[in-house]
Amino acid sequence: MTGMATDSLLFSPITIGSLTLRNRLMRSATAERMVDPRNGAPTPRLRGLYLTLARGGVGTIVAGHAFVALSGRCHAEMNSLADDALIPIWQATVSPAQQAGARVFAQLNHGGASCDPAVTAVPLSPSGVNTNPQAQARMMSESEITEIIHAFGQAARRAREIGFDGVQLHGAHGYLISQFLMPRTNRRSDAWGGDPQRRRAFLLAVIAEVRRQAGSDYPLWLKLGIVGSPEDELTSAEGAETAAACFEAGIECLEISNALGAPIQTVQEEPCFLPLAQAVRKAVGPDKPLALVNGFRTRPMMEAVLASGLVQLVSLCRPFIADPALVLHLAQGADTQVQYTRCGRCWPDKPGEGIACKNAAVQRRIHAQTEA
Ligand SMILES: Cc1cc2nc3c(=O)[nH]c(=O)nc-3n(C[C@H](O)[C@H](O)[C@H](O)COP(=O)(O)O)c2cc1C
Repeated sequence: MTGMATDSLLFSPITIGSLTLRNRLMRSATAERMVDPRNGAPTPRLRGLYLTLARGGVGTIVAGHAFVALSGRCHAEMNSLADDALIPIWQATVSPAQQAGARVFAQLNHGGASCDPAVTAVPLSPSGVNTNPQAQARMMSESEITEIIHAFGQAARRAREIGFDGVQLHGAHGYLISQFLMPRTNRRSDAWGGDPQRRRAFLLAVIAEVRRQAGSDYPLWLKLGIVGSPEDELTSAEGAETAAACFEAGIECLEISNALGAPIQTVQEEPCFLPLAQAVRKAVGPDKPLALVNGFRTRPMMEAVLASGLVQLVSLCRPFIADPALVLHLAQGADTQVQYTRCGRCWPDKPGEGIACKNAAVQRRIHAQTEA
């Protein structure tokens, strides 16, 4: 590798709200599947992964999505922030990475209709529309909606007690918040569905409840699915308006993603969602902090997007699975091409395995480059 290349905008600190981040690179939330399947408690492996990422130089780590209530548990190896008893073990999991210089956010989620029926027998959803062909979802009652909003607030309060630097709400990829936002999955005609204002009422109520229970000074970020597939009937214009409404409601940073998970792995452009970022920037104005995820693979592209001012943070998931020390390697002048393919072989093949890059060719390339 050549010499240090830390004069790049990628490595310049930024302050968002009350938090200073040491650089512009963020590990996007990644379900690590490194918890005790009995209760969603983090294992020592997860603590080790966060520490490795922090030592590898990343500015911000968003932990894998955590369920806020048992009814929102997507699968048996999902992180839990639904129980006060887990506060000490989460503290021990997160603080070493913070001491190594990274900011660590919790990601709060409820799977809604997308929960695996093996762990959540009758998944809840805004109006009983299925997103998982294996499950028959049930329409949520008014009181269940209120309970889950409250549960998001409780989980944020726990995250603050644990010492997470902030929380990010998961409003993307077809989970419950997305299900409320998309016309296809929200057919309600009460205060929670109908026009765009009422479809976003659930998300805005969650934001208000998090503020109420965790404090208005606690950093609150959002990952938002701006657009769905054509059948989902969620347009990017509406998604961009939702982004603006969420900033009005007090979020401090918005990560731009898509509303449903499946199509993203096949999109080839780098980065995939540049047009969405342009629509959001137009809607929220020049000053709001934005992060962009999906498909960043080369350093010149990351630098160009930051330099354009379109977004302030570059967020990556699969490249950090392939190389947790990616930031350090980029700063040391590693090749501009992030050593990664879109093979998707990072998902675990069996329970207990956890995420890992199983692409031998990618691993060989990373090794060869960092040893050079
Ligand atoms: C193994 C794996 C787990 C993921 N878990 C989450 C998650 O917990 N929360 C989330 O918002 N997105 C999750 N994602 C999506 C990523 O954060 C990211 O949006 C997507 O992979 C595109 O970014 P990339 O091209 O940098 O990988 C996951 C993706 C992968 C591959």
